[in-house]
Amino acid sequence: MAGGLWDRLVVPRLIRCACGQPEIMELRRQVVPLARGAVFELGCGGGINQPLYDGAAVTSFAGIDPSPQLMADARNAAQARGWPATLREAVGEAIPFDDASFDTVVTTYTLCSVADPARVLAELRRILRPGGQLLFLEHGRAPDADVAKWQRRIEPLWKPLLGGCHLTRPVADAVRAAGFAVERQDGRYIPGTPRFAGWMEWGVASRAA
Ligand SMILES: C[S@@+](CC[C@H](N)C(=O)[O-])C[C@H]1O[C@@H](n2cnc3c(N)ncnc32)[C@H](O)[C@@H]1O
Repeated sequence: MAGGLWDRLVVPRLIRCACGQPEIMELRRQVVPLARGAVFELGCGGGINQPLYDGAAVTSFAGIDPSPQLMADARNAAQARGWPATLREAVGEAIPFDDASFDTVVTTYTLCSVADPARVLAELRRILRPGGQLLFLEHGRAPDADVAKWQRRIEPLWKPLLGGCHLTRPVADAVRAAGFAVERQDGRYIPGTPRFAGWMEWGVASRAA
């Protein structure tokens, strides 16, 4: 099947299925409700996180995603939630929002798929107000050498089938390298998923002034 058709028709279905499995939903419930104030979500397509935000703590919600198919789901989720979300089709490498305009920025299972994670993290830092928080939950490079070896081997086959998803990207280390201070960090393999795709890292980082 042509790459475009695969990416438009099949990948969104795969993403909805993989990203909604119970172990992943449990991790989302640990991270997403921590968001406070004006919230921005990177790669908000699918809208799967929207029901998990604490409505008493979030004052506004905005997000971007380049996929029209997944963005349609995000719009439906906003409607179901009944909040006036600002949702734009855009990439994280050029986020169409002003500097220091959010109290919390959220990324879940998106840094694996962006073209330039360092650029995206720099953009997240730019739109976050000083003292604001980055919440992250991502899969990535496993800490065990044998698993990491298989991640390197499988990634070239995996990436074109799954919308550009990488297996070998560092998560918390990349957040630190982008100039955030990681305040809380956790990680583990989730059950029921092969270890090469099952290493999860999540946490809270702040933007120093
Ligand atoms: C695996 S899905 C995760 C979706 C959602 N964040 C979640 O937690 O379920 C990866 C998402 O990243 C989006 N994406 C891909 N490239 C991107 C980029 N350069 N900037 C922002 N989002 C991107 C995809 O369209 C897709 O919605």
